[in-house]
Amino acid sequence: MISVAIDGPAGAGKSTVAKLLSKKLGFLYFDTGALYRVLGYYFIKNKLDYKNPEVVKSNIKKIKISFKFVRNQQKMFLCDEDVTYKIRNGEVSMAASIISAIPETREFLLGIQRDIANKNNVVMDGRDIGTQVLPNADVKIFLTADVRVRAQRRLKQLRRRNPNVYYRDVLNMVEKRDKNDRERKISPLVPARDAIIFDTSRQSLNRTIFKLTRIVGKRINGKK
Ligand code: DC
Repeated sequence: MISVAIDGPAGAGKSTVAKLLSKKLGFLYFDTGALYRVLGYYFIKNKLDYKNPEVVKSNIKKIKISFKFVRNQQKMFLCDEDVTYKIRNGEVSMAASIISAIPETREFLLGIQRDIANKNNVVMDGRDIGTQVLPNADVKIFLTADVRVRAQRRLKQLRRRNPNVYYRDVLNMVEKRDKNDRERKISPLVPARDAIIFDTSRQSLNRTIFKLTRIVGKRINGKK
């Protein structure tokens, strides 16, 4: 199976790029952040203190997380509840980021992610795909962009669902999440040594996709 790992901070464009790239390649697209988000949602929904690592550790294995693909869309479930859209808000993002710093959380999700890559040609995006989840991925891309550009992009996304979101708050949240994800002890957000680093701040989406499709295509063909 062929795997393409796309890592990077929030708002760098990972999911947009990964989706388009997977379509071009005919691969499955898997968003690993959604797994962490479902866990975050569980703790919020059950009013559990996810900032307390002991609470997280003692609950994590009870969580029944699953997903299915419906017309190429990755639907996320907590038990039987479809949480695909409920996990897309600022509160869940922060909870996911905090919970993701706990080793037991990462271990809990590792098998699920590897299993997908074992069974499918996949473009997988996240924070540690190239470094921890799929260290032997065929191609590794680390997408990055200036934090202000990333905050603007996130703002646009969030405003689709809630017009009362403000740039300052989003910037604050993105900076906080960056700090959490980069400074955690386990699987921090860093580019893999063999990752292609790609800055999307000044690139249009079309240009980004054009360049990355070429790079990925060359790498994959070079390995055949
Ligand atoms: O990609 P995202 O914004 O949906 O991810 C939400 C949080 O989940 C992110 O802030 C950190 C965590 N995460 C992670 O630690 N490792 C991954 N592979 C994906 C996400």
